[in-house]
Amino acid sequence: MTHRIAQRSLAVAVLLVAACRSTPRTGPAAAERPPAYAIVPNPTTIEIAPGRDSFLVTPRTPVVVDADASSEVEAVGTYAAQLIASRFGATAQRLAAGTTQPDSSIALRLDPTRANLGAEGYELTVRRTQVQIVAAQPAGLFYGVQTMRQLLPPSVEHIASYTRRLVMPAAHVVDVPRFEWRGGMLDVARHFLPAQDVKRFIDLYALYKLNRLHLHLADDQGWRIEIKSWPNLTAVSGNTAIGDAPAGFYTQEQYADIVAYARSRYITVVPEIDMPGHINAALVAYPDLRCNRTAPELFTRVGGPPNTLCVTRDSIYNFVSDVIREISSAAPAPYYHIGGDEVAGLTKEQYRGFVERTQSIVDRIGPRMVGWGEIATANISPRAIVQHWNRDSSEMHAQRGGKLILSPGPHAYLDMKYDSVTVLGLRWAGLIDLHTAYDWNPTALLPGVAESSILGLEAPLWAETLVTRQDYEYMAFPRLAAIAELAWSAPGRTGWEDFRRRIGAQGARLAALGVNFARVPGVPWSW
Ligand code: ACM
Repeated sequence: MTHRIAQRSLAVAVLLVAACRSTPRTGPAAAERPPAYAIVPNPTTIEIAPGRDSFLVTPRTPVVVDADASSEVEAVGTYAAQLIASRFGATAQRLAAGTTQPDSSIALRLDPTRANLGAEGYELTVRRTQVQIVAAQPAGLFYGVQTMRQLLPPSVEHIASYTRRLVMPAAHVVDVPRFEWRGGMLDVARHFLPAQDVKRFIDLYALYKLNRLHLHLADDQGWRIEIKSWPNLTAVSGNTAIGDAPAGFYTQEQYADIVAYARSRYITVVPEIDMPGHINAALVAYPDLRCNRTAPELFTRVGGPPNTLCVTRDSIYNFVSDVIREISSAAPAPYYHIGGDEVAGLTKEQYRGFVERTQSIVDRIGPRMVGWGEIATANISPRAIVQHWNRDSSEMHAQRGGKLILSPGPHAYLDMKYDSVTVLGLRWAGLIDLHTAYDWNPTALLPGVAESSILGLEAPLWAETLVTRQDYEYMAFPRLAAIAELAWSAPGRTGWEDFRRRIGAQGARLAALGVNFARVPGVPWSW
């Protein structure tokens, strides 16, 4: 497809839309329609030309990769083949050496010379005869597939829609992300999400090109990951949660399986064990971690007691070290989150001493340390990453040359209620409707923190009031897509009015996926 042809088709489409608009309507105000094609996050550049240049997809449409493609590229091809064929046995096909892409196929190709696409960018070209996705790295191919997916009708998402002929409009997309860290956090400690529900979230993160899954694995109310050298953590606190809700924990094998599944979707898991506060579940299991060596009461309500690790006792660092070492060897990861938020009952010196000593343990084991904003008050290295969430000390870390992740409570906390009648959720950071989640500027958030200090954005989903997967989904969607767009799309490509309409077009897709998303008002939902 040349640009000329694309533009001509686009002009025809615009005329058609204009003609529809001019038809007078009577009766109650006609429902606003979302656009027919809408990509979230908004790509850097996109031209769409519905009409006779469309590409027809059937369950037999081959997805092809080059003869010498790596197994990783082949795996992305197989992911795409399974998406369009709606069956798990579908695989990518390797082209025979020296042959060119056949007609009516979808080709995925790495081109390392396309350095302008970076590690995650891609170019997608849809013509009547062929579809091509080109990227410099495999992650880019994966994101190109996600955009292709959103150009296909929502029925592509439903496993039971077999006999289908799906039409993809002619299109040309060149797209690179704004931020390196595009994350979501699941709190599986206050309530527990079984591994298959975490994997479902991973798949939904991928749809919106998120690349970090921060797992909050322990808190006052429960401990969710097996630590073999400290078995009571899960034997005692793996079975508690807020109220009488069902609880559980991940064995190290299950955790490694989640990490591998996430990796197959280009998502890096960031494990967090919150310390030295938010630790009651561990103190119940091992009272010696407390200064008075007596077990605190089990805490299974919303909120938390002020109990902490006995940070001035050397032996607790054996515990800290065993936990970090076991989690890091169950599934080696580039990041490890130490928590560090909301610590009551320690002096500033005691708190800073804990953070610094824990940093040296994390550094020795290898991953890059992440912690909530409060850790910036300690003498941490610029290699550490600080996660801003509230009125905290994150700016101090930017001043020392370190990087920040932005999770501002009043915009990015997905556990806040949408409005005053939302049944689920809390409201301490305010009510967060979709507009509030979307309409903020990461570079204007913290005085003196420039874009170069911002590694990216993350939307935490705390689970004090969330019990089932459907509860988690209701609070996450559509607001998670808003944060995903701010993290991916360049400032000139974001804007509330346009997003409002594009997210409306995602309604039928989320519905086809069975996502219990909040049908928030003011959006022209399509379902
Ligand atoms: C937090 O919300 N306490 C990080």
